[in-house]
Amino acid sequence: MISRRALLAGAAAAGAVGFAPSALGRVPASVDTLPKSAPVRRLALSAAEMEMPLLGPGKPVTKGFCAYNGTPFLTLRAPVGTRLMVDFENRLPDLTTVHWHGVRVPYLSDGVSPITQAPIPAGSTFTYNVPLPDPGFYFFHPHCDETGQVGRGLVGLLVVDDPAEAKLGFDAEHFIVVKDWRLDEKDGRWLEMFTDEGASTAGTFGTVRATNGSIVPPRVEAPAYGDVRLRVIVADSTRTIDFGCETEDAAIIAIDGQALTPLPFSKLPNEIWRMGPAMRIDVHVRMPGPGEEVKVYDYRTAEPYLLTTLVGVDAPGSKPGRKKTAFRPKALPPAKVPLPDVKRASRIDYLVQTAAGPIVSGDPLPPDDPLAKALIASACVGSKTFWAINRNSWGAGADLRLPPPLATLKDGASYVVSITNVTKHVHPMHLHGHVFRVLSSSKKKDIPPYLADTVMTEPNETVEIAFRATSGDWVFHCHILEHMDSGLMGWIRVV
Ligand code: C2O
Ligand code: CU
Repeated sequence: MISRRALLAGAAAAGAVGFAPSALGRVPASVDTLPKSAPVRRLALSAAEMEMPLLGPGKPVTKGFCAYNGTPFLTLRAPVGTRLMVDFENRLPDLTTVHWHGVRVPYLSDGVSPITQAPIPAGSTFTYNVPLPDPGFYFFHPHCDETGQVGRGLVGLLVVDDPAEAKLGFDAEHFIVVKDWRLDEKDGRWLEMFTDEGASTAGTFGTVRATNGSIVPPRVEAPAYGDVRLRVIVADSTRTIDFGCETEDAAIIAIDGQALTPLPFSKLPNEIWRMGPAMRIDVHVRMPGPGEEVKVYDYRTAEPYLLTTLVGVDAPGSKPGRKKTAFRPKALPPAKVPLPDVKRASRIDYLVQTAAGPIVSGDPLPPDDPLAKALIASACVGSKTFWAINRNSWGAGADLRLPPPLATLKDGASYVVSITNVTKHVHPMHLHGHVFRVLSSSKKKDIPPYLADTVMTEPNETVEIAFRATSGDWVFHCHILEHMDSGLMGWIRVV
Protein backbone atom coordinates (compact mmCIF):
# COMPACT_ATOMS: atom_id res chain seq x y z
CA MET A 1 0.00 0.00 0.00
CA ILE A 2 1.29 3.40 -0.92
CA SER A 3 0.65 5.84 1.89
CA ARG A 4 -1.67 8.78 1.42
CA ARG A 5 1.18 11.12 2.31
CA ALA A 6 3.38 9.73 -0.48
CA LEU A 7 0.55 10.21 -2.91
CA LEU A 8 0.05 13.77 -1.73
CA ALA A 9 3.73 14.46 -2.30
CA GLY A 10 3.36 13.00 -5.79
CA ALA A 11 0.46 15.29 -6.54
CA ALA A 12 2.40 18.27 -5.26
CA ALA A 13 5.30 17.41 -7.53
CA ALA A 14 2.95 17.14 -10.48
CA GLY A 15 1.86 20.70 -9.76
CA ALA A 16 -1.55 22.24 -10.15
CA VAL A 17 -2.47 22.56 -13.78
CA GLY A 18 -5.93 23.03 -15.18
CA PHE A 19 -7.09 19.99 -17.11
CA ALA A 20 -10.24 18.30 -18.25
CA PRO A 21 -10.91 14.60 -18.64
CA SER A 22 -9.81 14.29 -22.25
CA ALA A 23 -10.12 10.51 -22.37
CA LEU A 24 -13.85 11.00 -22.91
CA GLY A 25 -14.13 12.51 -26.34
CA ARG A 26 -14.32 16.14 -27.33
CA VAL A 27 -13.30 18.52 -24.55
CA PRO A 28 -15.84 21.32 -24.09
CA ALA A 29 -14.93 24.95 -24.74
CA SER A 30 -14.58 26.98 -21.52
CA VAL A 31 -17.01 29.78 -22.26
CA ASP A 32 -16.80 33.21 -20.69
CA THR A 33 -20.05 34.84 -19.58
CA LEU A 34 -18.79 38.44 -19.82
CA PRO A 35 -17.24 40.37 -22.73
CA LYS A 36 -13.47 40.87 -22.77
CA SER A 37 -14.05 44.58 -22.12
CA ALA A 38 -15.68 43.94 -18.70
CA PRO A 39 -14.02 45.87 -15.86
CA VAL A 40 -11.53 43.68 -13.99
CA ARG A 41 -10.99 43.59 -10.26
CA ARG A 42 -7.89 41.68 -9.23
CA LEU A 43 -7.85 40.31 -5.73
CA ALA A 44 -5.69 38.11 -3.55
CA LEU A 45 -7.40 35.26 -1.75
CA SER A 46 -5.80 32.76 0.56
CA ALA A 47 -7.06 29.89 2.66
CA ALA A 48 -5.37 29.21 5.99
CA GLU A 49 -5.91 27.78 9.43
CA MET A 50 -6.34 30.00 12.48
CA GLU A 51 -7.56 29.85 16.08
CA MET A 52 -11.14 30.76 16.89
CA PRO A 53 -13.07 31.00 20.16
CA LEU A 54 -15.98 29.02 18.71
CA LEU A 55 -17.33 27.90 22.08
CA GLY A 56 -17.57 31.49 23.28
CA PRO A 57 -15.69 33.63 25.80
CA GLY A 58 -13.90 31.87 28.65
CA LYS A 59 -14.04 28.52 26.83
CA PRO A 60 -11.18 26.63 25.18
CA VAL A 61 -10.16 28.08 21.83
CA THR A 62 -10.43 25.90 18.71
CA LYS A 63 -7.33 25.37 16.57
CA GLY A 64 -7.45 24.52 12.90
CA PHE A 65 -10.41 26.72 12.02
CA CYS A 66 -10.22 27.46 8.28
CA ALA A 67 -10.90 30.86 6.72
CA TYR A 68 -10.27 32.89 3.61
CA ASN A 69 -7.99 35.92 4.07
CA GLY A 70 -7.97 35.32 7.84
CA THR A 71 -11.63 36.40 8.08
CA PRO A 72 -14.34 33.95 9.11
CA PHE A 73 -17.05 33.96 6.41
CA LEU A 74 -15.13 36.56 4.37
CA THR A 75 -17.61 38.54 2.25
CA LEU A 76 -16.63 39.66 -1.24
CA ARG A 77 -18.78 42.22 -2.99
CA ALA A 78 -18.69 43.65 -6.50
CA PRO A 79 -21.05 45.27 -8.99
CA VAL A 80 -22.69 43.06 -11.61
CA GLY A 81 -20.69 42.94 -14.83
CA THR A 82 -17.34 42.92 -13.02
CA ARG A 83 -14.75 40.27 -13.67
CA LEU A 84 -12.91 39.08 -10.58
CA MET A 85 -9.42 37.78 -11.23
CA VAL A 86 -8.71 35.88 -8.05
CA ASP A 87 -5.10 35.05 -7.27
CA PHE A 88 -5.63 32.22 -4.84
CA GLU A 89 -2.94 30.87 -2.55
CA ASN A 90 -3.35 27.67 -0.61
CA ARG A 91 -1.84 28.20 2.87
CA LEU A 92 -3.64 25.18 4.29
CA PRO A 93 -1.59 22.08 5.08
CA ASP A 94 -3.81 20.12 2.63
CA LEU A 95 -4.97 20.15 -0.96
CA THR A 96 -7.86 22.47 -1.81
CA THR A 97 -9.67 24.28 -4.64
CA VAL A 98 -12.18 27.15 -4.76
CA HIS A 99 -15.66 26.62 -6.19
CA TRP A 100 -17.85 29.68 -6.96
CA HIS A 101 -21.23 28.27 -6.04
CA GLY A 102 -24.06 29.46 -8.29
CA VAL A 103 -21.88 31.82 -10.31
CA ARG A 104 -21.87 31.17 -14.07
CA VAL A 105 -18.09 30.94 -14.49
CA PRO A 106 -16.17 29.36 -17.38
CA TYR A 107 -15.90 25.71 -16.30
CA LEU A 108 -12.12 25.73 -16.07
CA SER A 109 -12.57 28.20 -13.17
CA ASP A 110 -15.27 26.08 -11.51
CA GLY A 111 -12.81 24.63 -9.01
CA VAL A 112 -13.90 21.01 -9.18
CA SER A 113 -11.05 18.70 -8.53
CA PRO A 114 -10.29 16.59 -10.38
CA ILE A 115 -12.51 17.22 -13.41
CA THR A 116 -11.87 20.92 -14.07
CA GLN A 117 -8.50 21.29 -12.37
CA ALA A 118 -6.00 19.32 -10.37
CA PRO A 119 -6.21 19.93 -6.62
CA ILE A 120 -4.02 22.82 -5.49
CA PRO A 121 -1.21 21.54 -3.24
CA ALA A 122 -0.30 23.27 0.02
CA GLY A 123 1.80 26.34 -0.74
CA SER A 124 0.68 26.56 -4.38
CA THR A 125 -1.40 29.10 -6.24
CA PHE A 126 -4.13 29.11 -8.87
CA THR A 127 -5.78 32.05 -10.63
CA TYR A 128 -9.55 31.93 -11.06
CA ASN A 129 -11.37 33.94 -13.72
CA VAL A 130 -14.71 34.74 -12.07
CA PRO A 131 -17.02 36.83 -14.28
CA LEU A 132 -20.09 38.10 -12.42
CA PRO A 133 -22.85 38.24 -15.06
CA ASP A 134 -25.80 38.02 -12.65
CA PRO A 135 -26.64 40.02 -9.52
CA GLY A 136 -27.34 38.05 -6.37
CA PHE A 137 -26.13 36.31 -3.25
CA TYR A 138 -23.59 33.55 -3.86
CA PHE A 139 -20.84 31.83 -1.93
CA PHE A 140 -17.55 30.03 -2.41
CA HIS A 141 -16.03 26.98 -0.80
CA PRO A 142 -13.48 24.23 -1.47
CA HIS A 143 -14.41 21.38 -3.79
CA CYS A 144 -11.90 18.99 -2.36
CA ASP A 145 -12.24 17.48 1.12
CA GLU A 146 -15.43 19.58 1.45
CA THR A 147 -16.61 17.69 4.50
CA GLY A 148 -13.42 18.43 6.40
CA GLN A 149 -12.63 21.95 5.19
CA VAL A 150 -16.14 23.40 5.09
CA GLY A 151 -16.78 21.60 8.38
CA ARG A 152 -13.95 23.63 9.89
CA GLY A 153 -15.35 26.91 8.56
CA LEU A 154 -13.97 27.37 5.04
CA VAL A 155 -16.84 29.29 3.46
CA GLY A 156 -16.84 32.77 1.87
CA LEU A 157 -19.83 34.87 0.84
CA LEU A 158 -20.13 36.70 -2.47
CA VAL A 159 -22.63 39.48 -3.13
CA VAL A 160 -23.02 40.74 -6.68
CA ASP A 161 -24.69 44.13 -6.48
CA ASP A 162 -27.08 45.55 -9.04
CA PRO A 163 -26.95 49.38 -8.92
CA ALA A 164 -30.63 49.35 -10.02
CA GLU A 165 -31.52 47.91 -6.60
CA ALA A 166 -30.47 51.11 -4.81
CA LYS A 167 -33.78 52.77 -5.62
CA LEU A 168 -35.67 50.05 -3.72
CA GLY A 169 -34.62 51.90 -0.58
CA PHE A 170 -33.74 49.16 1.89
CA ASP A 171 -32.75 50.72 5.22
CA ALA A 172 -30.47 47.90 6.31
CA GLU A 173 -28.96 44.62 5.21
CA HIS A 174 -28.10 41.74 7.49
CA PHE A 175 -26.55 38.32 6.88
CA ILE A 176 -27.66 35.12 8.57
CA VAL A 177 -25.12 32.34 8.09
CA VAL A 178 -26.39 29.03 9.45
CA LYS A 179 -23.38 26.88 10.28
CA ASP A 180 -22.94 24.51 13.20
CA TRP A 181 -19.66 23.39 14.73
CA ARG A 182 -18.66 19.81 15.41
CA LEU A 183 -16.61 20.20 18.54
CA ASP A 184 -15.76 18.45 21.75
CA GLU A 185 -17.36 20.94 24.13
CA LYS A 186 -14.82 20.23 26.88
CA ASP A 187 -11.62 21.01 25.03
CA GLY A 188 -12.81 22.81 21.89
CA ARG A 189 -11.24 20.24 19.57
CA TRP A 190 -12.81 19.18 16.30
CA LEU A 191 -14.62 15.88 16.21
CA GLU A 192 -14.54 13.56 13.21
CA MET A 193 -16.51 15.30 10.43
CA PHE A 194 -17.21 12.21 8.33
CA THR A 195 -18.81 9.24 10.04
CA ASP A 196 -20.12 6.13 8.27
CA GLU A 197 -23.22 6.31 10.41
CA GLY A 198 -23.93 9.91 9.35
CA ALA A 199 -22.77 9.68 5.75
CA SER A 200 -25.09 6.72 5.11
CA THR A 201 -28.09 8.50 6.69
CA ALA A 202 -28.98 12.19 7.17
CA GLY A 203 -25.35 13.30 7.61
CA THR A 204 -23.22 13.96 10.68
CA PHE A 205 -24.54 16.97 12.58
CA GLY A 206 -22.52 19.53 14.49
CA THR A 207 -22.54 19.42 18.27
CA VAL A 208 -23.18 23.14 18.76
CA ARG A 209 -25.41 25.36 16.68
CA ALA A 210 -24.35 28.83 15.62
CA THR A 211 -25.42 31.83 13.56
CA ASN A 212 -22.67 33.87 11.91
CA GLY A 213 -20.17 31.81 13.88
CA SER A 214 -21.68 32.70 17.25
CA ILE A 215 -23.32 30.11 19.51
CA VAL A 216 -25.26 33.01 21.06
CA PRO A 217 -27.94 34.02 18.53
CA PRO A 218 -27.11 37.55 17.33
CA ARG A 219 -29.28 40.54 18.33
CA VAL A 220 -29.23 43.12 15.59
CA GLU A 221 -30.59 46.65 15.67
CA ALA A 222 -32.51 47.90 12.66
CA PRO A 223 -34.43 51.11 11.98
CA ALA A 224 -37.92 51.01 13.52
CA TYR A 225 -40.57 50.64 10.78
CA GLY A 226 -37.69 50.25 8.33
CA ASP A 227 -37.15 47.76 5.52
CA VAL A 228 -34.47 45.15 6.17
CA ARG A 229 -32.98 42.87 3.57
CA LEU A 230 -31.90 39.60 5.13
CA ARG A 231 -29.43 37.45 3.21
CA VAL A 232 -29.82 33.95 4.59
CA ILE A 233 -27.55 31.02 3.76
CA VAL A 234 -27.28 27.49 5.07
CA ALA A 235 -23.52 27.04 4.95
CA ASP A 236 -23.63 23.94 7.09
CA SER A 237 -22.47 20.60 5.66
CA THR A 238 -25.51 18.73 6.93
CA ARG A 239 -28.32 20.73 8.49
CA THR A 240 -31.61 21.51 6.75
CA ILE A 241 -33.68 24.29 8.30
CA ASP A 242 -37.29 25.49 8.08
CA PHE A 243 -36.72 29.23 7.94
CA GLY A 244 -39.48 31.45 9.31
CA CYS A 245 -39.97 34.89 10.89
CA GLU A 246 -42.23 35.87 13.77
CA THR A 247 -43.96 38.53 11.73
CA GLU A 248 -46.54 38.74 8.95
CA ASP A 249 -44.45 41.41 7.28
CA ALA A 250 -41.83 39.22 5.59
CA ALA A 251 -41.42 37.92 2.05
CA ILE A 252 -38.83 35.99 0.03
CA ILE A 253 -37.57 38.28 -2.74
CA ALA A 254 -34.78 36.11 -4.14
CA ILE A 255 -33.87 32.41 -4.09
CA ASP A 256 -30.23 31.43 -4.61
CA GLY A 257 -29.61 35.05 -5.57
CA GLN A 258 -32.24 35.13 -8.34
CA ALA A 259 -35.15 37.57 -8.08
CA LEU A 260 -38.70 36.25 -8.03
CA THR A 261 -42.13 37.79 -7.62
CA PRO A 262 -42.10 38.31 -3.85
CA LEU A 263 -43.35 35.28 -1.96
CA PRO A 264 -44.83 36.38 1.39
CA PHE A 265 -44.25 33.85 4.17
CA SER A 266 -47.93 34.17 5.07
CA LYS A 267 -48.74 32.45 1.72
CA LEU A 268 -46.30 29.56 2.18
CA PRO A 269 -47.35 26.21 3.68
CA ASN A 270 -46.60 26.44 7.44
CA GLU A 271 -45.18 29.93 6.73
CA ILE A 272 -41.68 28.51 6.34
CA TRP A 273 -39.13 27.93 3.57
CA ARG A 274 -37.14 24.70 3.78
CA MET A 275 -33.45 25.23 3.10
CA GLY A 276 -30.79 22.54 2.83
CA PRO A 277 -27.03 23.05 2.67
CA ALA A 278 -25.97 25.68 0.08
CA MET A 279 -29.43 27.20 -0.29
CA ARG A 280 -29.86 30.98 0.04
CA ILE A 281 -32.80 33.33 0.23
CA ASP A 282 -33.11 37.11 0.34
CA VAL A 283 -35.92 38.17 2.64
CA HIS A 284 -37.60 41.55 2.93
CA VAL A 285 -38.63 42.14 6.55
CA ARG A 286 -40.56 45.20 7.68
CA MET A 287 -39.41 46.19 11.17
CA PRO A 288 -41.90 46.95 13.95
CA GLY A 289 -41.67 50.03 16.19
CA PRO A 290 -38.85 51.09 18.52
CA GLY A 291 -38.01 48.43 21.11
CA GLU A 292 -40.10 45.80 19.34
CA GLU A 293 -38.50 42.65 17.97
CA VAL A 294 -38.69 40.30 15.03
CA LYS A 295 -37.39 36.85 15.88
CA VAL A 296 -36.15 34.61 13.11
CA TYR A 297 -36.26 30.84 13.69
CA ASP A 298 -35.44 27.44 12.37
CA TYR A 299 -38.75 25.67 12.98
CA ARG A 300 -37.54 22.26 11.81
CA THR A 301 -36.25 21.11 15.16
CA ALA A 302 -38.73 19.98 17.86
CA GLU A 303 -37.81 23.11 19.82
CA PRO A 304 -37.61 26.06 17.34
CA TYR A 305 -34.03 27.34 17.21
CA LEU A 306 -33.62 31.11 17.42
CA LEU A 307 -31.35 32.19 14.57
CA THR A 308 -31.36 35.95 15.09
CA THR A 309 -33.37 38.71 16.79
CA LEU A 310 -33.94 41.99 14.97
CA VAL A 311 -34.65 44.91 17.29
CA GLY A 312 -36.35 48.08 16.09
CA VAL A 313 -34.50 51.27 17.07
CA ASP A 314 -34.82 54.98 16.44
CA ALA A 315 -31.25 55.31 15.35
CA PRO A 316 -29.20 57.49 13.08
CA GLY A 317 -30.13 56.23 9.65
CA SER A 318 -33.80 55.70 10.46
CA LYS A 319 -36.10 58.27 8.94
CA PRO A 320 -37.39 60.48 11.75
CA GLY A 321 -41.03 60.34 12.70
CA ARG A 322 -41.48 57.14 10.75
CA LYS A 323 -44.82 55.38 11.19
CA LYS A 324 -46.10 51.95 10.46
CA THR A 325 -47.44 51.63 6.92
CA ALA A 326 -48.94 48.62 5.13
CA PHE A 327 -46.30 46.09 4.14
CA ARG A 328 -45.70 45.79 0.43
CA PRO A 329 -42.79 43.46 -0.40
CA LYS A 330 -40.18 45.05 -2.67
CA ALA A 331 -39.67 43.32 -6.00
CA LEU A 332 -36.07 43.10 -7.24
CA PRO A 333 -35.37 43.72 -10.94
CA PRO A 334 -36.12 40.47 -12.81
CA ALA A 335 -33.28 37.95 -13.16
CA LYS A 336 -31.57 37.92 -16.57
CA VAL A 337 -30.03 34.44 -16.64
CA PRO A 338 -30.49 32.38 -19.83
CA LEU A 339 -33.88 30.70 -19.65
CA PRO A 340 -34.77 27.26 -20.99
CA ASP A 341 -37.22 26.68 -23.80
CA VAL A 342 -39.31 24.18 -21.87
CA LYS A 343 -41.54 23.24 -24.83
CA ARG A 344 -38.61 22.13 -26.95
CA ALA A 345 -36.57 20.68 -24.13
CA SER A 346 -35.29 17.11 -24.12
CA ARG A 347 -36.12 15.06 -21.03
CA ILE A 348 -33.72 13.36 -18.65
CA ASP A 349 -34.65 11.35 -15.56
CA TYR A 350 -32.42 10.92 -12.55
CA LEU A 351 -32.95 8.67 -9.57
CA VAL A 352 -31.24 9.60 -6.32
CA GLN A 353 -30.74 6.30 -4.55
CA THR A 354 -28.60 4.32 -2.16
CA ALA A 355 -25.65 2.45 -3.57
CA ALA A 356 -27.08 -0.87 -2.42
CA GLY A 357 -27.49 -2.23 -5.95
CA PRO A 358 -24.87 -2.85 -8.64
CA ILE A 359 -22.94 0.23 -9.69
CA VAL A 360 -22.44 1.07 -13.34
CA SER A 361 -18.76 1.73 -13.37
CA GLY A 362 -16.70 3.93 -15.65
CA ASP A 363 -13.53 2.76 -17.28
CA PRO A 364 -10.80 2.28 -14.71
CA LEU A 365 -8.15 4.89 -15.27
CA PRO A 366 -4.60 3.79 -15.92
CA PRO A 367 -2.69 4.40 -12.66
CA ASP A 368 -0.22 6.77 -14.35
CA ASP A 369 -3.00 8.91 -15.82
CA PRO A 370 -2.80 12.42 -14.28
CA LEU A 371 -6.52 12.33 -13.59
CA ALA A 372 -6.23 8.98 -11.81
CA LYS A 373 -3.32 10.29 -9.79
CA ALA A 374 -5.20 13.41 -8.82
CA LEU A 375 -8.27 11.39 -7.91
CA ILE A 376 -6.48 9.06 -5.56
CA ALA A 377 -4.11 11.65 -4.14
CA SER A 378 -6.78 14.13 -3.35
CA ALA A 379 -8.84 14.01 -0.24
CA CYS A 380 -11.29 15.17 -2.92
CA VAL A 381 -12.37 11.57 -2.92
CA GLY A 382 -14.25 10.18 0.05
CA SER A 383 -13.49 6.81 1.58
CA LYS A 384 -16.83 4.99 1.28
CA THR A 385 -19.70 4.64 -1.19
CA PHE A 386 -23.24 4.89 0.13
CA TRP A 387 -25.17 6.73 -2.59
CA ALA A 388 -25.72 6.79 -6.32
CA ILE A 389 -27.45 8.62 -9.17
CA ASN A 390 -28.92 6.22 -11.76
CA ARG A 391 -26.87 3.39 -10.31
CA ASN A 392 -23.65 5.29 -10.71
CA SER A 393 -21.52 6.66 -7.90
CA TRP A 394 -18.66 9.10 -7.85
CA GLY A 395 -15.45 7.22 -7.03
CA ALA A 396 -14.47 6.77 -3.41
CA GLY A 397 -11.70 4.99 -1.54
CA ALA A 398 -9.69 2.74 -3.84
CA ASP A 399 -12.37 3.09 -6.53
CA LEU A 400 -9.98 4.56 -9.07
CA ARG A 401 -12.19 5.60 -11.93
CA LEU A 402 -14.01 8.59 -13.24
CA PRO A 403 -17.64 7.56 -13.71
CA PRO A 404 -18.94 8.14 -17.23
CA PRO A 405 -20.90 11.39 -17.61
CA LEU A 406 -24.55 11.13 -16.59
CA ALA A 407 -25.35 12.73 -19.93
CA THR A 408 -23.69 14.49 -22.84
CA LEU A 409 -25.71 17.59 -23.70
CA LYS A 410 -25.66 20.18 -26.44
CA ASP A 411 -24.44 23.69 -25.74
CA GLY A 412 -27.39 26.10 -25.91
CA ALA A 413 -30.05 23.36 -25.94
CA SER A 414 -32.77 23.14 -23.27
CA TYR A 415 -33.35 20.23 -20.92
CA VAL A 416 -35.97 19.23 -18.39
CA VAL A 417 -34.51 17.00 -15.70
CA SER A 418 -36.72 15.10 -13.31
CA ILE A 419 -35.01 14.17 -10.06
CA THR A 420 -36.67 11.46 -8.00
CA ASN A 421 -35.45 10.82 -4.48
CA VAL A 422 -36.07 7.17 -3.60
CA THR A 423 -34.12 7.31 -0.33
CA LYS A 424 -35.31 7.94 3.23
CA HIS A 425 -33.45 11.25 3.52
CA VAL A 426 -33.57 14.75 2.06
CA HIS A 427 -31.05 15.64 -0.64
CA PRO A 428 -30.48 19.26 -1.74
CA MET A 429 -29.28 18.74 -5.33
CA HIS A 430 -26.92 21.26 -6.93
CA LEU A 431 -25.97 21.62 -10.60
CA HIS A 432 -22.79 23.55 -11.34
CA GLY A 433 -22.48 26.29 -13.91
CA HIS A 434 -26.20 26.83 -14.41
CA VAL A 435 -29.15 28.61 -12.90
CA PHE A 436 -32.16 26.37 -13.48
CA ARG A 437 -35.88 26.87 -13.24
CA VAL A 438 -37.63 24.72 -10.66
CA LEU A 439 -40.75 23.77 -12.60
CA SER A 440 -42.67 21.50 -10.30
CA SER A 441 -42.65 19.12 -7.39
CA SER A 442 -44.80 16.08 -6.78
CA LYS A 443 -45.19 17.18 -3.16
CA LYS A 444 -45.18 20.99 -3.03
CA LYS A 445 -48.05 21.97 -5.26
CA ASP A 446 -48.63 25.68 -4.79
CA ILE A 447 -45.12 27.09 -5.23
CA PRO A 448 -44.85 29.07 -8.49
CA PRO A 449 -41.79 28.18 -10.66
CA TYR A 450 -38.59 29.93 -9.54
CA LEU A 451 -34.90 30.06 -10.41
CA ALA A 452 -32.27 28.33 -8.28
CA ASP A 453 -28.97 26.51 -8.36
CA THR A 454 -29.80 24.00 -5.61
CA VAL A 455 -33.14 22.26 -5.15
CA MET A 456 -34.42 20.25 -2.21
CA THR A 457 -35.66 16.74 -2.87
CA GLU A 458 -37.63 15.01 -0.12
CA PRO A 459 -38.05 11.24 0.25
CA ASN A 460 -40.36 9.97 -2.53
CA GLU A 461 -40.53 13.38 -4.16
CA THR A 462 -39.98 14.07 -7.84
CA VAL A 463 -38.78 17.57 -8.68
CA GLU A 464 -38.54 18.87 -12.23
CA ILE A 465 -35.95 21.44 -13.20
CA ALA A 466 -35.20 22.99 -16.58
CA PHE A 467 -32.15 24.77 -17.90
CA ARG A 468 -30.33 25.90 -21.00
CA ALA A 469 -27.04 24.00 -21.16
CA THR A 470 -23.69 25.82 -21.19
CA SER A 471 -20.51 24.30 -22.57
CA GLY A 472 -18.38 22.59 -19.94
CA ASP A 473 -17.91 19.62 -17.65
CA TRP A 474 -20.25 20.25 -14.73
CA VAL A 475 -20.90 18.21 -11.61
CA PHE A 476 -24.37 17.51 -10.26
CA HIS A 477 -24.46 16.45 -6.62
CA CYS A 478 -26.10 16.47 -3.24
CA HIS A 479 -24.89 19.38 -1.09
CA ILE A 480 -24.97 17.36 2.11
CA LEU A 481 -21.24 17.13 1.92
CA GLU A 482 -20.83 13.62 3.32
CA HIS A 483 -23.34 12.44 0.71
CA MET A 484 -21.36 13.91 -2.16
CA ASP A 485 -18.18 12.49 -0.66
CA SER A 486 -19.76 9.04 -0.51
CA GLY A 487 -21.04 8.71 -4.05
CA LEU A 488 -23.93 11.18 -4.51
CA MET A 489 -22.29 13.05 -7.36
CA GLY A 490 -22.23 12.72 -11.10
CA TRP A 491 -21.26 15.00 -13.97
CA ILE A 492 -22.63 16.15 -17.27
CA ARG A 493 -20.61 17.11 -20.30
CA VAL A 494 -21.96 19.92 -22.46
CA VAL A 495 -20.33 20.35 -25.89
CU1 C2O B 1 -21.49 24.42 -3.42
CU2 C2O B 1 -20.40 21.50 -5.97
O1 C2O B 1 -20.94 22.93 -4.71
CU1 CU C 1 -27.82 13.98 0.09
